[in-house]
Amino acid sequence: MPDFSKRKQFILWMVAAVAASTGLAGVVVWEFRSTPRRTVLYLEGVPEKGKALFFGSKHCGICHAIQGSGGVVAPDLSGKRPRAPAVGWLTVVLWNHQPGMWQQMRGLKTGYPKMNQEEMAHMLAFLYQAAISDRAGDAEGGAKVFEGKGCAHCHSVRSVGGKTAPDLGAVAVSGGYAGWSRAMWNHAQSMVAPVTKELGGWPQFSGEEMNDLMAYVGGGKAAAGGQQEMHGSAERGWHVFEKNCMQCHSVRGQGGNVGPGLGPEKDLPLSLAQFSSVLWNHAPAMLKQMKEKGFAAPALQGEQVADLLMFLAGMRYFEPAGSPFLGQRLFTERGCAHCHGAEAQGARFGPNIRGRTAYTVVSFAAAMWAHGPKMQSKVEELAMAWPVLEATDVGDLISFLNSQPAGGTQLMP
Ligand code: HEC
Ligand code: HEC
Ligand code: HEC
Ligand code: HEC
Repeated sequence: MPDFSKRKQFILWMVAAVAASTGLAGVVVWEFRSTPRRTVLYLEGVPEKGKALFFGSKHCGICHAIQGSGGVVAPDLSGKRPRAPAVGWLTVVLWNHQPGMWQQMRGLKTGYPKMNQEEMAHMLAFLYQAAISDRAGDAEGGAKVFEGKGCAHCHSVRSVGGKTAPDLGAVAVSGGYAGWSRAMWNHAQSMVAPVTKELGGWPQFSGEEMNDLMAYVGGGKAAAGGQQEMHGSAERGWHVFEKNCMQCHSVRGQGGNVGPGLGPEKDLPLSLAQFSSVLWNHAPAMLKQMKEKGFAAPALQGEQVADLLMFLAGMRYFEPAGSPFLGQRLFTERGCAHCHGAEAQGARFGPNIRGRTAYTVVSFAAAMWAHGPKMQSKVEELAMAWPVLEATDVGDLISFLNSQPAGGTQLMP
């Protein structure tokens, strides 16, 4: 009955087209949000809700800690250094560690935690917040930093040390990480000349030295700064940036070029202590430029350093763009094609996953999480290596999976 089958095919095609376009509508809405909204997009997932899931119904906290509180059998998820694009990075971090995680989960009474897309969005937002929050420093190490960097020449901490400059204990205790970062920035303005003269150079901070220094100057109390929720607002940060930084730094092609671009392609550290190290390290060169260009050195107030950081971090959280062609190549290179076929149209060991839905990073992460255990047993059965992904793969893979297979736009076989 050719008529019937044609009709049936048409109806099925309509259903598929509607399904696909609803999926696409989601993507389009995502893409065309107004500009200021885009910069705070990662708040689409609410970190607090993710936190409740993490320590509550999803039981992640049984095994993982955040800032030292939680389980001990799995890595502490705070203070990692996110690679750009951040959502892509989170997705692959979750994915790459799945075999190790499942091994642990098999013994778990609660079973494998299921996560729908909304929950995944909250979870990713929370994991991102944890990744960019400061790790609590080590006070003993901090005492060495205070000596080693020469701060003790002039400053004291709880009355021990030099007497020509203010005691730093009070600064750290009252301001937490945000207040400390602000004081360091504002201090740099007036101190470049005397410090360079006294020490013969401008001390540079690297690694976790700033976290350690804070733990020391705060006498343990400021270490609690690390436990604080990340504050700061991307929107306020944008205004601070526009007013004070943009004449020299560009983001996404807008702004000056006296200093390096600070858009998402720039690999900046995103925890407050590390960010404040970078500001400190570059302060003399920045201040020199400000003098030459006749700009007043901006004095920052309140939590403006944290705000700036949220603005810069928010830009790094977007849907990564990608190329379907690169994606197809990666799909084979990373070993996905082994099970799903080179066109991702389905093969002996894995289903068709091409052009059937419009993946966003969140839905992709949720799909990978949901199907992980089955993939894992297939991987074991075939004795193959777990396909390890890189943060930049995600955009390309999604573009590829969202594209239609060559040879037609028809959605139904
Ligand atoms: C039964 C214990 C257990 C539970 C529950 C668990 N994990 Fe894990 N997770 C692990 C182990 C073990 C690793 C390290 C695996 C490896 O590196 O091979 C890991 C690794 C990770 C990593 C990568 C960490 C890194 O090294 O950067 C992330 C992210 C992660 N888990 C997130 C989660 C989330 C989100 C949940 C809750 C939905 C969760 N985990 C629940 C045991 C667990
Ligand atoms: C040559 C002496 C000298 C050295 C070396 C020095 N400072 Fe300072 N610092 C000062 C003086 C003087 C002030 C107060 C003037 C000001 O606020 O601009 C100050 C202010 C500060 C403040 C702001 C204090 C407040 O009350 O807001 C911080 C934070 C600070 N310094 C941190 C450091 C750190 C960290 C080091 C080591 C890397 C360091 N300083 C090295 C002289 C020094
Ligand atoms: C007058 C121009 C000027 C202004 C205004 C300015 N900067 Fe800079 N900035 C520079 C220059 C030049 C460098 C490179 C310094 C160096 O090479 O050490 C720099 C470096 C940096 C870096 C380090 C980048 C890297 O390569 O790691 C950061 C972060 C930064 N600036 C942030 C800011 C922020 C935030 C503001 C606003 C509060 C700001 N800058 C305002 C000129 C400026
Ligand atoms: C060892 C075989 C195997 C490998 C390798 C493999 N997969 Fe899968 N994949 C499967 C199986 C089997 C399923 C179906 C699981 C299920 O139904 O729960 C699946 C399901 C999926 C899904 C979910 C489809 C849906 O329903 O939304 C996605 C997305 C996916 N795979 C992507 C990938 C990517 C990307 C790679 C490479 C990094 C990969 N797979 C590697 C076997 C594999």
